[in-house]
Amino acid sequence: MMKRYLVTGGAGFIGSNFVKYMLKKYIDIEIIILDALTYAGNLGTIKEELKDKRVEFYKGDIRNKDLVENIFMKHDIDYVVNFAAESHVDRSIAEPQIFLETNILGTQNLLEIAKKFWSIGKNEKGYPIYKTGKKFHHVSTDEVYGSLSKNYSHAVELKLSKEVKKVVEGRENLKTYGTNMFTEKTPLDPRSPYSASKTSSDMIVVAYGETYHLPFNITRCSNNYGPYHFPEKLIPLIIKNILCGKKLPVYGKGDNVRDWLYVEDHCKGIDMVITFGMQNEIYNIGGFNEEENINIVKLTIDKILEIMKKESKYQEILKTDIKNINYDLISYVTDRLGHDERYAIDPTKITTELGWYPETSFEVGIEKTIRWYLDNQDWVEEVASGDYQKYYDEMYR
Ligand SMILES: NC(=O)c1ccc[n+]([C@@H]2O[C@H](COP(=O)([O-])OP(=O)(O)OC[C@H]3O[C@@H](n4cnc5c(N)ncnc54)[C@H](O)[C@@H]3O)[C@@H](O)[C@H]2O)c1
Repeated sequence: MMKRYLVTGGAGFIGSNFVKYMLKKYIDIEIIILDALTYAGNLGTIKEELKDKRVEFYKGDIRNKDLVENIFMKHDIDYVVNFAAESHVDRSIAEPQIFLETNILGTQNLLEIAKKFWSIGKNEKGYPIYKTGKKFHHVSTDEVYGSLSKNYSHAVELKLSKEVKKVVEGRENLKTYGTNMFTEKTPLDPRSPYSASKTSSDMIVVAYGETYHLPFNITRCSNNYGPYHFPEKLIPLIIKNILCGKKLPVYGKGDNVRDWLYVEDHCKGIDMVITFGMQNEIYNIGGFNEEENINIVKLTIDKILEIMKKESKYQEILKTDIKNINYDLISYVTDRLGHDERYAIDPTKITTELGWYPETSFEVGIEKTIRWYLDNQDWVEEVASGDYQKYYDEMYR
């Protein structure tokens, strides 16, 4: 049966990858994208998808009640998939308010309107009853759980439980820096304005589930990397700077640990939870791939050099001499305020209940990502220069 998705934040990094993934996977599908096109949203990212008859785009804010109501009036939405958010921790430290407004109030506005349009009456206890097949999917982050400590100074092999091992085929090199991980039952303990706003939005989603029985799922994912990632985040920023021979800023000693997941694996997990997830449940999504920031930076330098040497055509992209690409580019800068030490996701629940696991190893994913950036320098320049705004004006005059 045809399903209609309202994808908020569909012109951002993960949202756009999700739109691409879904259009490829399903024929009988409609996607309505709502995106405010902040600095992080870029229509150039989804220009091919905008030509698809199954896609409709609205420029606007998830906090805009009239606009969201109009969308629900015009389209019989089955699933809301809420990616729209202010997503950069550093920006949240400099300007917290917009994070609270978009991430909390925006989510609540979407929930309220979904409740209004999906409910068809009340049961004997006064709870709303909803049209069948509707669901609100909220995309959240491992940062809501706070920070874990490191037990090892170097990565050790991650031992999987028997039940998870059965699902995870052919994945080697699974690493961890600690003895404990975040499960869905870990108490919420956010530390930054960003993670506090995401935690609050998770809680308001759960509150709509409890108070109004609104059908929902929440997925909490670790750090994503892959194509179309705005070049202010670690991996795309490092790639961009390496190509120009610019310094590579690394916070503190570079020993903070993050769990890295290839973005397409995340999109697959969201699709599985929307389709098969138990109603009103929360699922963690993670990469089995913990790594210190400094090692991510070194690995990216090594990989770029390897590709450049193997395929010399890529050297034409360089704005510096290849000899300048080495670890001397690394520049340790004053640590981020309240920098969380380690994140590590335990995705046992989604693996054993739904059969999801991170299929793409970091070695494969980082090479795909670097090659994508090398092949799509126009995109990087466009988003960095703000030219995409002109593109928008031309397209939607
Ligand atoms: N990037 C990660 O590693 C990661 C990991 C886990 C969870 N998440 C979550 O996934 C979601 C997407 O993250 P991302 O990295 O793609 O972010 P992003 O910053 O690349 O994209 C966010 C998108 O939302 C849009 N947007 C912002 N404010 C809006 C508003 N008020 N109304 C409508 N649209 C608005 C932006 O224009 C942009 O297109 C976020 O909710 C984030 O918290 C991200």
